[in-house]
Amino acid sequence: MIDIPTPLLDALRHAQHIAVLTGAGISAESGVPTFRDAQTGLWSKFNPQELATREAFARNPKLVWEWYAFRREFIARAEPNAGHYALTELEKRAEKFTLVTQNIDGLHERVRQNVETLRSSVSPIIELHGNIFRTKCFREDTRVSDWLATDEIPPRCPRCGSYMRPDVVWFGEALPRRALDESFRAAESCDVFFSIGTSGVVEPAASLPFIALRNGAVVIEVNPEETPLSASATFCLRGVAGIVMPQILERTAEGN
Ligand code: OAD
Repeated sequence: MIDIPTPLLDALRHAQHIAVLTGAGISAESGVPTFRDAQTGLWSKFNPQELATREAFARNPKLVWEWYAFRREFIARAEPNAGHYALTELEKRAEKFTLVTQNIDGLHERVRQNVETLRSSVSPIIELHGNIFRTKCFREDTRVSDWLATDEIPPRCPRCGSYMRPDVVWFGEALPRRALDESFRAAESCDVFFSIGTSGVVEPAASLPFIALRNGAVVIEVNPEETPLSASATFCLRGVAGIVMPQILERTAEGN
C-alpha cells in the first residue's frame, strides 16, 4: 500500500474541477511500450528522426507507414488497465472532469465504451498528439476514414492522390489548436490536476501542470520515477498508475 496523504484526499473530495494529463506510463501496464524508459522505451530502440517527422515520411513513406501499422496492430490487441478504469470511476464522481492525454493509443476511449454507466454529459477526451487509429492526407492534412483497398503502401488519399499518413503529431509539428486551447483552459481553471505516467519533457504538454500550479490547483504526480515536475508538485505518489489510482479511489470513497 502506498501512503496517500489526507490533505490530498480532502482536496479531491472538495474538488469542483479535476483535470488529468496522462502519458505513455499509464498504458505501460497494458503492455504498450513507453518512449523514454531505459531498455524498454521506443526511443531507446528507434530513432524518432527516422520515423516520426514529416521529413522522415517524405524520405521513406513506406517505412514510416509500416512502423505505425505495426504499432497499431500491437495496440489494438492491448486492453485498458486498472489505471485507465480508475480514471473513469474518478470522472463519475467529479463535478467536472477534463482528461487530456498525450497517448495515441485510444485506451481511455476504450474504457468509456466498456463502462456504460458513465453519464452522457462527459466531456470528450482531449488527444493532444492525435490517435494512431485515424488516418489523414499527408498533403491536405484532412482526415480520411475510407479508401479503396490497395496493395500500395502507404495507400493514397481518395481526393488528391497524395500519400496518407497516421493522424498523429510528429516532431516539429504543431499540436491540434482546439485540443491545445482546451487543455490550457482546463489547467487554468481546475482545482486538482493529476500528471500521470509522463516524463514531462515534451512541450507544450509539460507546461500544463505548472500552469495549474500557478493558478492555485493542487498538483498530484503519479509516477514511479522522479520528473522535472516532482520538485514543484504538491504531492508525488511514487508507484505505478494501475496500483496508485485504484487506491486513491478507494481511499476517497472511505471518507477518510
Ligand atoms: P515517456 O516515455 O517520456 O515517459 C513515460 C513516463 O511514465 C516515465 O516518466 C515513466 O517513469 C513513467 N511510467 C512508466 N511506467 C509507469 C506506470 N506503470 N505508471 C505510471 N507511470 C509510469 O512518455 P510521455 O511522457 O508520454 O510524443 O512522452 C511524451 C511524448 O513523447 C509522447 O506523447 C510522444 C513522445 O515522443 C509524440 O509522439 C509527439
